[in-house]
Amino acid sequence: MPKYNIEQDVKKVLISEEQIKEAVKRIANEITKDHINSEKNLLLVCILKGSLPFMADLMKEIRIPCILDFMKVSSYGSGTVSTGQVKVKYDLSYETLEDYDVVVVEDIIDTGHTLSNLLVHLKDRHAHSVKLCALVDKPDRRIADVKVDYCGYTIPDEFVIGYGLDFDEKYRNLPYIGVLKEEVYKK
Ligand code: IMP
Ligand code: MG
Repeated sequence: MPKYNIEQDVKKVLISEEQIKEAVKRIANEITKDHINSEKNLLLVCILKGSLPFMADLMKEIRIPCILDFMKVSSYGSGTVSTGQVKVKYDLSYETLEDYDVVVVEDIIDTGHTLSNLLVHLKDRHAHSVKLCALVDKPDRRIADVKVDYCGYTIPDEFVIGYGLDFDEKYRNLPYIGVLKEEVYKK
């Protein structure tokens, strides 16, 4: 079967490329301002895979020295409903985080299970400070109590794709965030 244009599966654009750029700049400025006077190193932790485009754009707008690391955790299967179970599949390269101000870079916060579990993990490693940054927040679906320090956009309870966010590993390469047509995930 020939490949098709993935944009035909998008019901509507929710956050445009322009709006993403604005949010990235705003968040990067806040992170810069909050950490400019700290004596610790700023460590950005990208939660793979969905946060990759956000991390790449965000780090370029931060105006103080920072270092990068990556983690991969699983909370979803291939569907659209959270299991509540979070497993670390790929861990940080730092054993102890005492010398670091950590900013966790997440694509989206939904139930909050992923981040509340991660937070415990980072605190166990004695991070000097831990802040959470998410491009998209869906507060209506929150189960675990997590405080988002830096948030791009708050959206209603809709399943979104693009700019790193996937459905069944697809659509991550869309440059904007959109709502998926229902017939795609009900197939
Ligand atoms: P939480 O643990 O329920 O907060 O979910 C966080 C993770 O679920 C995110 O990092 C995403 O990978 C995934 N997720 C939650 N909502 C969506 C969505 O609307 N579209 C795509 N992925 C989502
Ligand atoms: Mg993700």
